[in-house]
Amino acid sequence: MYSKKVIEMFTNPKNVGEIRDPDGLGKVGNPVCGDVMWIYIKVGKDKQGNEIIKDIKFKTMGCIAAIASSEMTTELVKGKTLDRAMEITNARVARELKGLPKEKIHCSNLAADALHNAIKDYRRKKKRKQG
Ligand code: FES
Repeated sequence: MYSKKVIEMFTNPKNVGEIRDPDGLGKVGNPVCGDVMWIYIKVGKDKQGNEIIKDIKFKTMGCIAAIASSEMTTELVKGKTLDRAMEITNARVARELKGLPKEKIHCSNLAADALHNAIKDYRRKKKRKQG
């Protein structure tokens, strides 16, 4: 059984979609079930000059838990610094969703991994630009 929070995030996701020309793109797939997820980020700066996630979208071809995890992850990090966003774990995502059925815990790994990959992609590109 899914929690109310999972159902709410699954049925009314705010961050579904793509960002054209994203600053970072992260993709992960689950080899066991074949589900795939992409996370797109736009990076900006806060008043202190820290890099933050200005915008974030996801596309998930997956189960209810994977979609709810994507929505929860994107909601948790929107407006946060990249360093804070890198600290998000699948355990935190599952906790914020008020738990997931045991056989669905692996689904929450996808979102945190895709997010981390998007940030790494951004940092790699930035490094390349700086030479
Ligand atoms: Fe594949 Fe949930 S069953 S991510």
